[in-house]
Amino acid sequence: MKIQFIHITDTHLNAPGREFLKVSMADKLKQIFEHVRMSKLAPAFVVITGDLAHEGIAEDYQYIRKLVNEGSDIVGAPVHVTLGNHDHRSAFREGYLGEEPSEQAYYYSTTINGLRLIALNSQVPGKHSGTVDEEQLAWLAEELTSSAPNGTIVALHHPLLNFSGMPSEHIITNAPAIGDILKTGDDVVCIVAGHVHTNNVGLYEGIVSVAAAGSAFAGESTEDGQFRMYDFCSYNIVTVSNKNVTVQTVVLPTTNVEYARFDMSILTTQH
Ligand SMILES: [Fe+2]
Ligand SMILES: [Fe+2]
Repeated sequence: MKIQFIHITDTHLNAPGREFLKVSMADKLKQIFEHVRMSKLAPAFVVITGDLAHEGIAEDYQYIRKLVNEGSDIVGAPVHVTLGNHDHRSAFREGYLGEEPSEQAYYYSTTINGLRLIALNSQVPGKHSGTVDEEQLAWLAEELTSSAPNGTIVALHHPLLNFSGMPSEHIITNAPAIGDILKTGDDVVCIVAGHVHTNNVGLYEGIVSVAAAGSAFAGESTEDGQFRMYDFCSYNIVTVSNKNVTVQTVVLPTTNVEYARFDMSILTTQH
């Protein structure tokens, strides 16, 4: 059975009036939802893997929820999210989920058309690096004792592979522990992540591991050891067919104008 889903990441949205760049990140996300609709894709779901907000106060998350609900209507599929290092649990729970503010990690499992999505919370309050905590690891191990008919997708913000030689303060701290648990499942076909703002595909413990560039901007290292961020907008179409996986990156037109350039060593203060 062939199932498609849409992977978006790093939307870096703020509520209107609180934009951090002249370019509208909201327009970029709307453009993606419209493109999915125009392309006549019928995804089982959309997943956005964190850095939903750039600043992340409750007002930002109310606005993001509105955009996500509108996007869900446009593409005709549920939109699921995970949290990134720019996000704030308490404000997210209040503004996005409409719950009492709390620092409880946001993770869950849902199965759509036989394809299971396991969303993990790698965001740690006050840190740029990511960790999937012990409570989630225990839950993940339990979750993977059962399998889904069409396979399992694991979504989290920080990729398990350090694709781009990022400094240690910027990457996930306990990838081996997560990988050891993922190996116990017999149906995990793909890991989707963001955070690095570049498109990378690899294998982690034999599982297809994708870090996408995202909708807001892209980044790349330069020859002189700097890191440049520029206007960019993309999303991935992931197709799972008999537990085989293909990833198609769709790049939407932007100016590609450079936003910032700085030394790689201060990446953790800029992103
Ligand atoms: Fe980001
Ligand atoms: Fe990030």
